[in-house]
Amino acid sequence: MIVEERLITYINSLNTGNGSFLEEIEAEAQRSYVPVIRKETQQFLKFLLVMNCPKSILEIGTATGFSALLMETSNPVPCHITTIENYKKRIPIAKANFLRAGRENVIELLEGDASQVMKGLDGPYDFIFMDAAKGQYIHFLPEAIRLLGPGGILVSDNVLQDGDIIESRFAVTRRNRTIHKRMREYLYELTHTESLTTSILPIGDGVTVSVKERNKE
Ligand SMILES: C[S@@+](CC[C@H](N)C(=O)[O-])C[C@H]1O[C@@H](n2cnc3c(N)ncnc32)[C@H](O)[C@@H]1O
Repeated sequence: MIVEERLITYINSLNTGNGSFLEEIEAEAQRSYVPVIRKETQQFLKFLLVMNCPKSILEIGTATGFSALLMETSNPVPCHITTIENYKKRIPIAKANFLRAGRENVIELLEGDASQVMKGLDGPYDFIFMDAAKGQYIHFLPEAIRLLGPGGILVSDNVLQDGDIIESRFAVTRRNRTIHKRMREYLYELTHTESLTTSILPIGDGVTVSVKERNKE
């Protein structure tokens, strides 16, 4: 928890929801202990989509498809979403959810490890949502930058690791040290890559928003 719990409860009490269908998909995921983006992050993502109206979206980390459906539903313009998942058990559930929503033609699920799958994509994408294994973000970054169009937006979730990110590596449990190190490297790269302008926000478990530079004509 990186923001006081009562504050989050208050903020989320003002959330007007996503409609009964998406809430059912979210509840089903939660019943099976499948991670889904937190309420405050959902609202932020919706806001970014309404503001940017991306026509092509790439998601890394489908799980059971909740966030892909949320993005498609809240985007004011028609879009195509490519989403990548490597956990075999979740893939049929996500596909079934896209079918249930009647969105199987606009949300395409690519199966496999994102670091490999991304290499085979052409882009450009207007919007990339990174929500997969936190220790791999640093490895996904060069491909994400390549795939992002000028002015494109990269959103990464869970970057502050419940506040552990500010601790020294010795204060972090041994099994979390590699992720801690890689996430710090990732945040450093995001904030020091010339082609990106990045903001790190304490929303949910920490979100970054990066915009790729446009060519000045
Ligand atoms: C936090 S969940 C995604 C939640 C989803 N975005 C939502 O909110 O509905 C992360 C997902 O990324 C997948 N994942 C992790 N590492 C991956 C990789 N290298 N390639 C593809 N998928 C990966 C996991 O199997 C998991 O289902």
